[in-house]
Amino acid sequence: METVTSALTDAASVIRRNIERFGDAYVGDTTRDDRYALRPAAGAFAEGQNRGWTTSFVPGMQWLAWDATGDEVFRAQALRHAEDFERRLRSDEDLETHDLGFLYTLAAVVPWRKTGEDRWREVGIAAAERLMTRFLEPAGIVQAWGDLTDPAQRGRTIIDSLMNMPLLTWAGEQTGDPRYADAVRRHTAQLREHILRADDSTFHTFYWDPITGDPLRGGTEQGAFDDSCWARGEAWGIYGFALNYEATGDASLLRAAWRCADYFLSHLPADRIPYWDLVYTDGSDAPRDSSAAAIAVCGLYELALVDPARADEARAAADDLLDALIAHARPSSPEASDALLLHGVYDLPKRVGVDEGTLWGDYFYLEALVRRTTPGWERYW
Ligand code: GLY
Repeated sequence: METVTSALTDAASVIRRNIERFGDAYVGDTTRDDRYALRPAAGAFAEGQNRGWTTSFVPGMQWLAWDATGDEVFRAQALRHAEDFERRLRSDEDLETHDLGFLYTLAAVVPWRKTGEDRWREVGIAAAERLMTRFLEPAGIVQAWGDLTDPAQRGRTIIDSLMNMPLLTWAGEQTGDPRYADAVRRHTAQLREHILRADDSTFHTFYWDPITGDPLRGGTEQGAFDDSCWARGEAWGIYGFALNYEATGDASLLRAAWRCADYFLSHLPADRIPYWDLVYTDGSDAPRDSSAAAIAVCGLYELALVDPARADEARAAADDLLDALIAHARPSSPEASDALLLHGVYDLPKRVGVDEGTLWGDYFYLEALVRRTTPGWERYW
């Protein structure tokens, strides 16, 4: 436990330093040579501006650091980011994505939970309503990427989308509007049925016919092959199916979470840090994706809470994986990197962010440390 506590102390000091260095600006999705730099300018977006799917992990980490330390500097900066996310939503900047769930769970729902202020509740509900515009009939899925009229993206979803459902669940609870829960129930049932394969591995992405709603085909975008199992996708499956089991009470989603967990755990190399795609095994020189392990740890801790029958097993597997992350992917000192967790992969087929720190890897590693050290921690998702 001492190692876990010192990993948490180191993480808080890195986040404090990143606040001093970057303030209200946003860093890129991943480090380069273990250092974050301002998010590059793109089109109308200036350097350091709030765009893309990963910026909410910055305030997300600050809220976690506040939970862990009580240091007001974290809360104050997280609220400044909440203001910027409100601005982004109101000015309709880079919102054509299902990742509104990742973004506004951490940047509106969490601020609302922490402050009770209506302002953040309204932002969260407006973001959820925007996400609902991506729910496609008759397929009953939330489209992942792109403009809804883009033929290349129409009818496509991805396993990561499971983590975007909690925003809809929360909005349903807040408003009493049954459309949200209905969308969550139908979308997650489609993923359980089609994105999860018979051998318990997962497709990264899956297409439905936008006119008939028929399931068409699976494929990959960030994995090694269409029929391989992208490690981070399987990890999203563990955590995402577990959270949506709690939201819907549908026991088949609990089974789906365990199917992902069992497959993930049985495809790890000896040192427990997954290769970026689970097709690779011990002896391969393929890069690892520590961020997949960090997400899996959070999913396993969640399974320990919701499944009394296998709670001990889930907690032991989570502890084991988190210990491996601390041993193999924690920077040697807080000064050694701006990231909390080394050795992540963003998108190997496109050679983006390979063997680097990642904002989501940092976030879920920190969430895992907080879950381990703070029994009863109230989850954000
Ligand atoms: N949700 C995008 C990714 O995991 O890369």
